[in-house]
Amino acid sequence: MGAMKILLASAEAAPFAKVGGLADVVSLLGRSLGVLGHEVRIILPLYAPIDRSNLTPYGQPMIVNMGYGVEFCRLWRGKNFGIEVFFIEFEKYFGRCGIYGESGEGYRDNWERFSFFSRAAIDSCDFTNWIPDVVHAHDWHSGLLPVMLREQRLYRLNGAASVFTIHNMAHHGYAPPELLSFIGLPQKLFHPFAMEAFGAINIMKGAILYADKITTVSRTYADEIKTRAHGCGLDGLLTYRAADLIGICNAVDGDIWSPKNDPMIGANFSHKNLAGKKKCKAALQEKMGLSTDGDILLIGVISRLVEQKGLDVVCDILPNLLNDLRIQFVLLGAGDPILEGRFMAHASNYAGRIAVKIGYDDTLAHMIEAGADCFLMPSRYEPCGLNQMYSMLYGTLPIVRGTGGLCDSVENYDEHTSSGSGFVFHQLDREALYNTIRWACSTYYERRQDFMAMQKYAMQKDFSMDKMANAYLKAYEYAIDSHGKHA
Ligand code: ADP
Ligand code: GLC
Repeated sequence: MGAMKILLASAEAAPFAKVGGLADVVSLLGRSLGVLGHEVRIILPLYAPIDRSNLTPYGQPMIVNMGYGVEFCRLWRGKNFGIEVFFIEFEKYFGRCGIYGESGEGYRDNWERFSFFSRAAIDSCDFTNWIPDVVHAHDWHSGLLPVMLREQRLYRLNGAASVFTIHNMAHHGYAPPELLSFIGLPQKLFHPFAMEAFGAINIMKGAILYADKITTVSRTYADEIKTRAHGCGLDGLLTYRAADLIGICNAVDGDIWSPKNDPMIGANFSHKNLAGKKKCKAALQEKMGLSTDGDILLIGVISRLVEQKGLDVVCDILPNLLNDLRIQFVLLGAGDPILEGRFMAHASNYAGRIAVKIGYDDTLAHMIEAGADCFLMPSRYEPCGLNQMYSMLYGTLPIVRGTGGLCDSVENYDEHTSSGSGFVFHQLDREALYNTIRWACSTYYERRQDFMAMQKYAMQKDFSMDKMANAYLKAYEYAIDSHGKHA
């Protein structure tokens, strides 16, 4: 198949609007498809904090065809690594400081905000006279696109195939039944075999049902979400659509995350010479007020502080770990205020050995990846996870729970063959977590040769974008071939 026109619709895209890995993956995918010669356009809402100095308004105000009538919004245009990025400006919904909410609370009208965005994304194509071959929607925020492409009269756009990617199964996007008239979808969709669930509309359900192809961000997660334990109530539907569902592992942006040329870290280094990593450790210790000890095992965490990430269990055992083991601990994160408070209390009790920064800090994230010896990710579930991959490329061995993408990307240390790229445990309980950190610690202090061999091996792992982009291209071809053929 020749060059395709691909619209990537997402609530986040780096560097413009980022809460988590979704932003990184959408931007990287756009770039990598562009490199392969495809015509890509990313579209996202123009949230108030986005810097407009490098963006330009596009033409006259644009009509958005809502179910209740028309609205006018403005389309803006920018570029990221040569890829066209379009933005929907609409004060009522996006003129706020948050992406999904503020102070840990989601906005109550998120369903309105993102269904408006989805319809505006469709209308922007006609408005700019750019008709995509494939519309690729990410998570529930743009999950109405596959539904609208099938159930609304969109004329030129109805030929576009749709792909829906699940980055996180836990967020479905519930809306009241009025959503259908709000967005102009037929009332027949308020049905258990369509979008109805528990008396409301489940946007994710609609996306899974209507997309020509469904992907998620790792192979293991693609299997997990078909089970009751991880399917969040949609496992039956995903099993029904299993033939059209695949897992495509996320990739790493080597221009941003490479210890060889990362400008944000204390010194550059590579698997051939890890001397720079020692400097990065010293720089991190100094910046975070940890005692400068080049030999102590330094464990890092960078994370949204939400239930998914399992960090409450880390909090529970942190004093035991600090009392029993020769370690330092550094955490960068934000989210649940209770968890934030608990980590801060630990930091004040163990000054010089625990450092906590609450907030979002890109430079510090790079410094932690570079300066820590191990990276902790005890997730309850993890669709893919990017930080464990960044860590490995920086020679920072991940300690992870074997779930989702963590399973697929981290090879457990094998003491007999002295091989592996990290430390994996399975049960998320205090004992398993404690023992695994203790294991990493003993490997670091007592089998340093193994630890170093693992670092070098991990740093050479291939998480490059071409593999990911080619897998998505196959998914697009599949979607085009099967467009409109499934029930
Ligand atoms: P998720 O998307 O579930 O949050 P990922 O591991 O896929 O998890 O991606 C998280 C991304 O967000 C990474 O790029 C990580 O570095 C970044 N990140 C998370 N929290 C912070 C923070 N507090 N400061 C800076 N970057 C952060
Ligand atoms: C979600 C998942 C994370 C994944 C990211 C990008 O936020 O929680 O595991 O890496 O999306 O796909």
